[in-house]
Amino acid sequence: MVSHRELILPSLLWIGILGLQAASLQHSATLKSFNGIINECSSYLSPGGGSCSDRCLGLVGRFWNDTVARPSVSVGRFYRPDPCDQDYINRTLDCICDTVLPVPRNDICQRASNGLQCYRYQYGRLVASDPLYVGITPLQSQQVFQECSQMLSLSPVQLQQIAQSGYSNSPEGSCLVRCYLIRAGLYTDSHGPDIARFAVQCEGYDDAYEASVGKCYQELKLKQLDNCTLAARMYDECIQSNKLSNSNIDIVSLLVGLVTGFIPVGK
Ligand SMILES: *[C@@H]1O[C@H](CO)[C@@H](O)[C@H](O)[C@H]1NC(C)=O
Ligand SMILES: *[C@@H]1O[C@H](CO)[C@@H](O)[C@H](O)[C@H]1NC(C)=O
Ligand SMILES: *[C@@H]1O[C@H](CO)[C@@H](O)[C@H](O)[C@H]1NC(C)=O
Repeated sequence: MVSHRELILPSLLWIGILGLQAASLQHSATLKSFNGIINECSSYLSPGGGSCSDRCLGLVGRFWNDTVARPSVSVGRFYRPDPCDQDYINRTLDCICDTVLPVPRNDICQRASNGLQCYRYQYGRLVASDPLYVGITPLQSQQVFQECSQMLSLSPVQLQQIAQSGYSNSPEGSCLVRCYLIRAGLYTDSHGPDIARFAVQCEGYDDAYEASVGKCYQELKLKQLDNCTLAARMYDECIQSNKLSNSNIDIVSLLVGLVTGFIPVGK
């Protein structure tokens, strides 16, 4: 049986190809504008969205997590500070201390609303229509891994070996990681890691994080590695081991998931 989805997908793809030439190298990366996020939420929630609409924006834009219960600093990329404003980060953080942290955690929607309010009024002007990178979820990562293992024709036995011996220890494992990173829109052979996207993905937000990833990659690049080894070692040494972030793409458990059919949950 041909599903509805299979019928509409090709035309959607075609519109995508025609309409988003700039995005033609994005592979599976998700880009969303703030207006797009608002539109998504308004189609899920009743008109006005009640007091929970800001939390919905955060969930769709992946800058909100109920456990953390304050906006991720990554939401800052949707706001453009005034170039003369030296104090917007401190004002925003003060505002969050004053208006978000005192709200009880079970009033999660109010915490989300107050948190976004701080960005609206203290951080900068909203960048409403530029599509920006939205972090990849574990479920999407799993799918990208699966697609890559098919494209690279890796057998279940090979996958098991990669999982057991470590992905950087074989050409197959390194090439699988390279494929994943390229397809997730986080890496290219010619330009290396997309540091701004890794900053969103791994919550490494400050100049020190970006500089450390850049320096680490430049050092690896001098070693004349093949493209797969360079990509896998970049991930291992510059992203996964980076002390200034919490890398939340767990390639090892994605590999195990691929071998066992188990899909990891979490951020
Ligand atoms: C922001 O706050 C920190 C710590 O409170 C302070 O050290 C820093 O100077 C402040 N930055 C600005 C630009 O005021
Ligand atoms: C490796 O990457 C470079 C770009 O830096 C590219 O020119 C070259 O074709 C790639 N080699 C392979 C084998 O894909
Ligand atoms: C929320 O963040 C916590 C702490 O970083 C993490 O353990 C948890 O998996 C996240 N939850 C979701 C649903 O992403």
